[in-house]
Amino acid sequence: MAKRVVLAYSGGLDTSVAVRWMIEELGVEVVALAVDVGQASDDWDVVRERARAAGAVEAIVVDAREEFAENFVAPALKANAMYEGRYPLVSALSRPVIVKHLVEAARFHGADAVAHGCTGKGNDQVRFEVSTRALAPDLEVIAPVRGWGMTREDSILYAYRHEIPIQATKEKVYSIDDNLWGRAIECGEMEDPWAVPPKGVWLLTQQTETEPRDLVIGFDKGTPVSVDGERLGMADIIAKLNAVVGSYGWGRIDMVENRRVGIKSRETYECPAALALIMAHRDLESICLERDLDREKARFEPRYAELIYDGLWFSPLKKAMDSFIDSSQEFVTGEVRLHLEPNSCEVTGRRSEHSLYDYELATYDAEDNFRHEDSAGFVRLWGLSVQTWAARQGTKSTDGLSS
Ligand code: ARG
Repeated sequence: MAKRVVLAYSGGLDTSVAVRWMIEELGVEVVALAVDVGQASDDWDVVRERARAAGAVEAIVVDAREEFAENFVAPALKANAMYEGRYPLVSALSRPVIVKHLVEAARFHGADAVAHGCTGKGNDQVRFEVSTRALAPDLEVIAPVRGWGMTREDSILYAYRHEIPIQATKEKVYSIDDNLWGRAIECGEMEDPWAVPPKGVWLLTQQTETEPRDLVIGFDKGTPVSVDGERLGMADIIAKLNAVVGSYGWGRIDMVENRRVGIKSRETYECPAALALIMAHRDLESICLERDLDREKARFEPRYAELIYDGLWFSPLKKAMDSFIDSSQEFVTGEVRLHLEPNSCEVTGRRSEHSLYDYELATYDAEDNFRHEDSAGFVRLWGLSVQTWAARQGTKSTDGLSS
């Protein structure tokens, strides 16, 4: 049995109750660790105080915003990672960075287990546990919420009885998870996939701007480095784009996705910066990547997104794919212009010092230097096999396909 546990602490009801519950029920010491990945949180001092009030022997807050942006979001952006073609992996990307800090804290504080506050129905338990096993196969993982069988009302009562200062209401309508890369909002009336998401769920994508504007995003080797010529760190670029693009009311996703545990789930997201950056990055790649590289990369991008979604950030396949993706980004340097209008964000231009777009090949004007005469033989040979088939078999075929 574990003696000392480092808990991934959010400051919310479940993880606050989990601190005391593990002390009482499992007889362990609890170190509470909150990882700042850019989520909207209570003041971190208040969060620390709450963990101590719940009984934690230590309450630590780690600022991981830059690290999250540079080491977790940036690789996903290079891969244009979108689960099931739509979801930019907001929550899925934050779990491995949280686990990295959990494991580091477990080593530092001599703990023999880590714990998380996830339920048994979601993806986040998978990500916490698989990532922990990958980084620290010897550590135990405890999931108190999954097994304690308390309703929300029970938990509130538990907090009250143990004098844990928490402001929770009996009815918590939505399950919300957020960080720099965006916001996920589930549950409540949205559990009916036909129900329109209530206006109140949107926070980052309230349309307040009416004046159209352009934004120029600069990339260096696949990573965003500037906005309108101003060089900024990745975390600041994301924050800025969330504010600007979000103010045009753009960046929402409403989808039903397949969770790892086999449940279909109605999800709503708002991630203006993520969607704008992926769109811009993918567009820049269209002029910087040679055709076959571009297509092959696009072919396995969905697989890369699945690995992240399914908790396999720390895995040999993901690592090997990173080498390929990094290599593909060598010349993905340049700028993309986005045009913003209420409820719309579009690419209106792209340029790069490494662009493979050749004006003299593409133009229909006088500057044209494409060798037109080469096309005749090329096209004849390209179609030769089909032409032979048509002459020998196609015309005789009885299934009607050739007619
Ligand atoms: N469905 C998303 C995912 O699996 C969002 C999960 C949000 N987590 C939460 N605890 N509300 O990545």
